[in-house]
Amino acid sequence: MTNTTEIRVAGEPGYAIRVGHGLIAEVGDALPEGARKVLVVHPPTLQKEADALRESLVGEREVLLAEIPDAEQGKRIEVASFCWQIMGQADFTRSDAVVGFGGGAVTDLAGFVAASWLRGVAVVQVPTTVLGMVDAAVGGKTGVNTNEGKNLVGAFWAPRAVICDLDLLATLPRNEAVAGYAEVVKAGFIQYPEILEIIEADPERATDVTTDEFRRTIELAIRMKADIVGEDFREAGLREHLNYGHTLGHAIEHAERYQWRHGAAVSIGMMFAAELSRLAGRLSDAAVDRHRDILTSLGLPTTYRLGAWTQLLKTMQRDKKTRAGMLRFIVLDDIGKPTVMQAPDESLLYSAYLEVGEEQRPEVRSTQTSVKL
Ligand code: GLY
Repeated sequence: MTNTTEIRVAGEPGYAIRVGHGLIAEVGDALPEGARKVLVVHPPTLQKEADALRESLVGEREVLLAEIPDAEQGKRIEVASFCWQIMGQADFTRSDAVVGFGGGAVTDLAGFVAASWLRGVAVVQVPTTVLGMVDAAVGGKTGVNTNEGKNLVGAFWAPRAVICDLDLLATLPRNEAVAGYAEVVKAGFIQYPEILEIIEADPERATDVTTDEFRRTIELAIRMKADIVGEDFREAGLREHLNYGHTLGHAIEHAERYQWRHGAAVSIGMMFAAELSRLAGRLSDAAVDRHRDILTSLGLPTTYRLGAWTQLLKTMQRDKKTRAGMLRFIVLDDIGKPTVMQAPDESLLYSAYLEVGEEQRPEVRSTQTSVKL
C-alpha cells in the first residue's frame, strides 16, 4: 500500500484528509501560510506527543499548548473559555490557527474554539483515535455539551485539513479501537459492503490497527463520510444517513450516563435498526443475521436490557434530531441502501426492541474483546 492516501472533501474551498504513517511531520504544511501563532489543543494523555508536535511546528511560529480534560469532560464551555483566554493573551489574529490533537471530543472542542475565535480561524484536525479518524474529525461538526444535553451548542466549521497518522493508533487500548470501529462497520452496512467482506474474512485482522485490512476499511469509511459531508455539509438530507444506529445508540448512551463507549451503544442501535427494517418488510432475515454475526465477531454488543424501553423511547423523543415531534430512524432497504423512516408506529419500534432486548444486561463476553465499558 502506498504511504499516504489523500481523500478530498468537496466544497468551497474543500479540504484534504490524509491517511498514512508518520504524518505528524506534515501538520505544519497543512497550516495557513500566514499563521504566526498556533494553539494545539490536546488531552493530558498526549502530552509527550503534543510536545513533539510543538517542536515540529516552531520556527517562524509561536506554538502554544492547551491541555484540556479528556473525553466529554473537555467538551464544556468553561474549557472553550480557557482556550479563548490563551488565544486572547497571546493576541491571536484571524490569520492564526488551531490544531485539534486527540479523540473526537478534543477535535469537537478545538473546532468550536476555532469556529468562534474572531468569528472563525483555521483549524487542522489531527485525530488520534479510530472514532476521531473515521467520524468526529471529518465533516466540521464542532461544539460543546451543556447541562441539558450533548452537542446542543456548536457550529459547522470545516477544517482546513485532517491528518490521520496511523502511528498514533499503536498505543490505543484494543477495547477503544474496536468500539471506534463500530463506525467503520456502519459504513459497511450503509455504503461499502467490501468492509463487511473484509471483516467476515478475518475480524481480528480487520481491527488490528497495524494491518492493511484495517487501513483499507478505515479509508473506505473516511471516503464515505467525505463524500457525504462534501455533498451535504449542513445535514439537510444525505448526511442524516450517517445516523444509522445512532437514534437508539444515543438513548443508550444517555441511559448509561455516558459510561459506555459510543461505538458499543451504536452497535446495539444498528442491530435495532436492522430489526426495524426487517419488521417493516424492507430487509431480509439474512441481512439482519449478517449484522448480528459481524458485530458479534468483533466483540461488539447486540443486545440491551429489556426493561429499559420506556426510558429509551422517552429519550429518543427528546433527541434533537426528532423533527416536529416525529421520530426518525435510518433504516435499510438492503445492505448499502439507507433511507429515512419517519414516525414509525410505536408498536413496530417495540417489536424491534424485543428482538434486541434481553432479560439482563449482557455481561462480559467470553469470546473476543467486550467493548461495553
Ligand atoms: N457523526 C455524524 C455526522 O458527522 O454527521
